Amino acid sequence: MGKIVCRQTARIQEHATPTQKPVMNSPQTSRAEQEVRQDFYNTIDQQSMTPLWEVLAGLVTREPVSQARPHLWKFDDVRPHVMKAGELITAKEAERRVLVLENPGLRGDSRITPSLYAGLQLILPGEVARAHRHTASALRFIIEGNGAYTAVDGEKTIMEEGDFVITPPWSWHDHGNDSDQPMIWMDGLDVPMVNIFETSFAENLAEDEQQLSRPANYSPDHYSHNMLPVGYEHTRKCSPIFNYPYARTRETLERMAKYEEWDPCHCVKVQYTNPLDGSYAMPTIATFMQLLPKGMTTTPYRSTDGMIYSPVEGAGRTILRAPEGDVTLTWGPKDVFVIPSWMAHHHESDGDAVLFSFSDRAAQRKLGIWREQRGNGPVAGPH
Ligand SMILES: [Fe+2]
Repeated sequence: MGKIVCRQTARIQEHATPTQKPVMNSPQTSRAEQEVRQDFYNTIDQQSMTPLWEVLAGLVTREPVSQARPHLWKFDDVRPHVMKAGELITAKEAERRVLVLENPGLRGDSRITPSLYAGLQLILPGEVARAHRHTASALRFIIEGNGAYTAVDGEKTIMEEGDFVITPPWSWHDHGNDSDQPMIWMDGLDVPMVNIFETSFAENLAEDEQQLSRPANYSPDHYSHNMLPVGYEHTRKCSPIFNYPYARTRETLERMAKYEEWDPCHCVKVQYTNPLDGSYAMPTIATFMQLLPKGMTTTPYRSTDGMIYSPVEGAGRTILRAPEGDVTLTWGPKDVFVIPSWMAHHHESDGDAVLFSFSDRAAQRKLGIWREQRGNGPVAGPH
């Protein structure tokens, strides 16, 4: 029987610095001792056991070693494929007509980072994506088109480009397109997290579309004005607002850029929050929008949450310090790109650029495992 080397250890060895390499046999170990040990490993393998000292370096690393790779999907390259999918299969037949964005380091796993799923969904005029619910939390970030809707628990919201829309865990939701143009949005879900806990439930509603109980766009009006009904009890793990319109976000960034000091690493950046308690808008996923004024070069930054970006306006570059050398991702509106966990990077903007991003930071901070490093500063966290 061959030597037992777990997949994770092999991966770590591939990228390991000298201090991270697993020490399987010291120089003092004789060939005879090595053979005896290997026989022992083979014996315990029959009992589904493995020696920790052989896998420890890959299991508990000195710092994060991401399996994800930096990657950018140019919208101009992927849009034809998304539209082709619309010719090949209906939204009804596909249930969800989505092209999954698979990280090149995680192919076959339907993951854009180890903990998150992302895909590009197409709804053509007149189509409906059937009502259903699942334990996974989902976000929609609207990339192309205006006027389609998402309905969540009895309320419709009309979606415009740049809007950030939530479907909370276990809430009924359906999508439809009453406009005269295709709608493409990025789905972001915590499916890999839900699946690692083995807690996935899902079901379809008998009807394609759910019954509506409130007027369209009711939630932002209701919850964004610093008032709540007396005795209101919020039991959801999500923000009660499920559409954060781009127009309002853009205006906020513009005003902040004028009156606030720019952060060296992020320039002007906001996080979407639950107005009831100031937490992230979603229980596991943190979402952000940032403005990089023209000609900006940010200070290098890294954090333990792998980030998925989609620029809304402007163009620029993100330069990442990947293990194999610097990687430059040159982005424009509607592209999608990934920055893996703990990979130092900085942004450069050609014109005023606005970028949406999301990550699993909400979950990491709840678990007390999130860290960040600004420039050459100390590693900070957990927060
Ligand atoms: Fe869904």
